[in-house]
Amino acid sequence: MKIDILTLFPEMFDGVLSASILGRAQASGILSIETHDIRAYADNKHKKTDDYPFGGGAGLVMMAQPIFDCMAAVCGDEQPHRILLTPRGKLLTSERAKELSKLDRIVLLCGHYEGVDERVNTLIDEEISIGDYVLTGGELPAMVLVDCLSRFIPGVLGSEESAEDESHANGLLEYPQYTRPASFRGLDVPEILLNGHHANIAKWRHEQAMEKTREMRPCLLGNFGRVDRAYTKK
Ligand code: ADE
Repeated sequence: MKIDILTLFPEMFDGVLSASILGRAQASGILSIETHDIRAYADNKHKKTDDYPFGGGAGLVMMAQPIFDCMAAVCGDEQPHRILLTPRGKLLTSERAKELSKLDRIVLLCGHYEGVDERVNTLIDEEISIGDYVLTGGELPAMVLVDCLSRFIPGVLGSEESAEDESHANGLLEYPQYTRPASFRGLDVPEILLNGHHANIAKWRHEQAMEKTREMRPCLLGNFGRVDRAYTKK
């Protein structure tokens, strides 16, 4: 998959995208991520990319021209799926990330300041928010989206890692996990995980996931049917 990121702050992406699993995915060629500096496309003398909002109000608005020209240069003759990261967008879900992971190419536009000139929306196929709070810009949300969808691209996670057993993969929060030692400073791993009885362990994990979800995110239990089917299948 090819991901192009249009941003005023390309340097923000350096560490995050080159480390760990995303770094490995790029090195192996499964994933190709390129950042593009919107400012380089500003056609004014001072490379200005923002201006005061018509009608007044606080803050500055990102200008249309640098974004239009940057988008045109990045897309060329292709028509990749173009996403604007904005608190006005639809909330990112695991399901949506999984769908996006199937595309060959996406372009992410990071908004900044008080917003983006509304005419930029004529270039955009989808607006995504990562949560009901406002960040200083779309860069961190773009990193979150890239990280989240990459996990669903075949080969990005090693065989030891799984995108299916995690919180949200089946509509519930994840059950508790433990590793060695079985007893640590007086804290013991639940006995049921040590005796190797697969059916009992699966049942215990399901119960724990239900309990955790009920406690932390009761609204998610609306997805319970999906989970129950997944659980009873095996
Ligand atoms: N830009 C600022 N806040 C954001 C959010 N919550 N989601 C996506 N983009 C944003």
